[in-house]
Amino acid sequence: MLRINEESPMDHLRKLSVELGATFKEGVGASSLILNNKNGKGYINLYELFPGLLVRTYNLELANELVLSLTKNEYSPLYLIFCLEGSYSHSYNGDDSLKTISEGRNLISLTSEHEEHLLKLPAKVRLKLSVIVILREDINSNKLKLKGNIRTVMKDIVLKMEHGDSYRFIGGLKNPIGRHAKILIENKRTDLAGKLITESATYGTLAAQLDDHDNSFSTEEKIGIRDVELERVIKLCSYISSNIHKPHTVKELAFKSGIYEKKLQEAFNFLFNQSVAECIKNMRLEKGKELLETTNIKIANICDEIGINSHSYFSKIFYEKYGLGPQEYRESLESAEWVFELSYKSKAKLYLSDVEVSDLVKKADRVNKVNSITGCLVHYEDDFFQLLEGPKARVLELFEKITADGRHEEVELLWKGPRKRRIFDNIGLILISDRKKFTDDQSVGDLGLDMQTILSNTSPSSIRDLQFWQHVRNRIHLMNAS
Ligand SMILES: Cc1cc2nc3c(=O)[nH]c(=O)nc-3n(C[C@H](O)[C@H](O)[C@H](O)COP(=O)(O)O)c2cc1C
Repeated sequence: MLRINEESPMDHLRKLSVELGATFKEGVGASSLILNNKNGKGYINLYELFPGLLVRTYNLELANELVLSLTKNEYSPLYLIFCLEGSYSHSYNGDDSLKTISEGRNLISLTSEHEEHLLKLPAKVRLKLSVIVILREDINSNKLKLKGNIRTVMKDIVLKMEHGDSYRFIGGLKNPIGRHAKILIENKRTDLAGKLITESATYGTLAAQLDDHDNSFSTEEKIGIRDVELERVIKLCSYISSNIHKPHTVKELAFKSGIYEKKLQEAFNFLFNQSVAECIKNMRLEKGKELLETTNIKIANICDEIGINSHSYFSKIFYEKYGLGPQEYRESLESAEWVFELSYKSKAKLYLSDVEVSDLVKKADRVNKVNSITGCLVHYEDDFFQLLEGPKARVLELFEKITADGRHEEVELLWKGPRKRRIFDNIGLILISDRKKFTDDQSVGDLGLDMQTILSNTSPSSIRDLQFWQHVRNRIHLMNAS
């Protein structure tokens, strides 16, 4: 049985990927598990919309039943689960009587502290499920800068949560949640447009689920937009996101999508609860935020990349949305609370002798410690994988030097971005190698990191793949998490 701790949702998806032999794609604030092997087919996406509000969407068919244990920690989250297709069973606290939640049902569940909520996902059934998770600790935190309605709604939900112990509500069959949930669940994307779609569809689903609970939902959806048109709007978003540096007008977008301007505005309103212009502005801001998080590009140049031609306007709207200015936001990521991670794979140009590898690692270990950089270097046959973590500017600077190093080639970036904690405390650079000499020498055992574990369940032919090294990165993260 797989236990899930909501404190680290990214790690549980990672864990599930490793267990199912699935591909795990990790982005900033969004990640996805892609399954296409003997264990099943489909995907699970995870989005962190802001600290305290997470969404997991399941759209998959498993070969074998999967049991997930959702809680038993001090966080007692609120779950809003909607089953769009298929069915699943669940039980509480080892209670034998499993209840089946069928297609079209809405389940709202607040699990009290240390209570266990088991979710059984069936074998050989196409399952489409959305799970919205609300963590009250984070919502209550003063650090959270939410604006407008969403702040009021979240605070309201948290207040409701504080009154009861455990709580369940199973909604009726005929409810209007499905349309929002369908968009949420069937959205495969985890890029900029995908995140925006998820954010809006989550609020739509959340509102419909709560309305279903309060029994006050007003009959039917009032919009006359067909699903095929909504799909075209979603495609249009992807066009905008890849051309975010350009100016866009409603007229041009109407022409591109073949949907009249007025209807296009209505569709954006339904999907995003925003006008076309607001939605594009938010996409520019999200992209800007991502560039602030993952690069050292000057803010003036970020403005060019996101199609905003005034630095001061960017600062103003960034402040309005995130509660602090772009420079301030960038600096906050340099604070002790955050660490920047970068991982890549590469190939040795020529064979490196034991002495050469040892010298490289010894020197790097010394220099990294001085720069508050920690990490590991996996050396397998002629391949390298390196994970570096530390202050963003220093990690990026070091990566530039490493990329230019003549001892290796084909340097391919696997992931970069901020994270909450380090994996390797007090280690400048640790070597994990397939060569006997090093496995005897080094104390990698303390960390539970060794070549055998890293390579377990791996066929030699896959070692050249990028996916294999992504898998290695996942294992390294999990070793630290467990
Ligand atoms: C696979 C590989 C990994 C490396 N890792 C590091 C490292 O973590 N830290 C480091 O300071 N140098 C590392 N280096 C060495 C750098 O590329 C570079 O030689 C070193 O930073 C010295 O550069 P400098 O003399 O220009 O300051 C690595 C080189 C290779 C080939």
